[in-house]
Amino acid sequence: MKKRILSGMRPTGPLHIGHLFGALKNWAQLEEKYDCFFMIADWHALMSEYENPAAIQENILGCAIDWLSCGIDYKKSTVFVQSHVPEHLELAMIFSDITPLAWLERCPTYKEQLREQKARDLATYGFLGYPVLQAADILLYKAEVVPVGEDQLAHLELTREIARRFNNLYKKDALPEPEALLTKTPRILGLDNRKMSKTFGNYIALSDSPDTVRKKVTSMITDPQRIKRQDPGHPEICNVFSYYKIFTQPQSSGAGFKSDIVSQVYEECTAAGIGCVDNKKRLAEIIIAFLEPIQRERKKYTNDKKEIQKILDEGAIKAKDVASDTMKHIRKLTGLA
Ligand code: TRP
Repeated sequence: MKKRILSGMRPTGPLHIGHLFGALKNWAQLEEKYDCFFMIADWHALMSEYENPAAIQENILGCAIDWLSCGIDYKKSTVFVQSHVPEHLELAMIFSDITPLAWLERCPTYKEQLREQKARDLATYGFLGYPVLQAADILLYKAEVVPVGEDQLAHLELTREIARRFNNLYKKDALPEPEALLTKTPRILGLDNRKMSKTFGNYIALSDSPDTVRKKVTSMITDPQRIKRQDPGHPEICNVFSYYKIFTQPQSSGAGFKSDIVSQVYEECTAAGIGCVDNKKRLAEIIIAFLEPIQRERKKYTNDKKEIQKILDEGAIKAKDVASDTMKHIRKLTGLA
């Protein structure tokens, strides 16, 4: 029996290269070894987007299209939308009864989001319970492994604590304590060297046109010590250089770029042989070529939205199968059946 994996993303906007290198490439490699469940977390999206729900449907489709275009295989994995499986809410309700308020109030992501997301009112009941719903997402499928980025470790720890508390209260070993599986790729920074995020608008979307990519790469921050063209640069602190490394990794290059371009860039930059402007121009073309096969796939799916709906419908059926089994057991254990 393969171990089960569950992971998810919130459909809050177009997916970007941070999602690709931070999650999707990793997910696609796990499909053989694990029984994978990949979920589009629309209820989690609504927690922050409740004032602008119009975009959520479109983002759900966009998210599914991006996943498939990046190599997620819906025949091997269960790809589904969270709200198509109402059992998530039922389990979240039960978990909310056993989760001490203090666990949620001290959660670092909660405090950080309240501080960062000034444009939104996130002081809501639902948002405080974000990790409770996430725990339900994972434990509803008894997933043992959860591939996530470092930013999700606090949520995973809470999931483990909730599972432990549930087991202590109702039945030993009823729910597994899932492990995080961190991606090996170093985190890809945004164009402005901050964390790549939709809120900061500092990302390159998987769907960005060549001209948009060129404009965005031109705006990237480089080595601040390299003021004049003839100053030697310091690639090790330059985000443009780290993009070169990421986009020319052998397994990630669909376009046949070789990684010796990385040593060439290093030489040229440290010897002031190339200026940042030209160096960025070359990088932009590498990124454009890299995205090209993904965008070709995107186009195919975008023209066939019915097919995507069908894939998500079938995913929901498979997910519900597992979810309803778990809930039958959980209702018994909690005196509700
Ligand atoms: N909180 C996750 C994120 O923002 C998304 C998510 C929701 C998730 N439910 C999940 C991730 C369950 C892993 C497992 O990235």
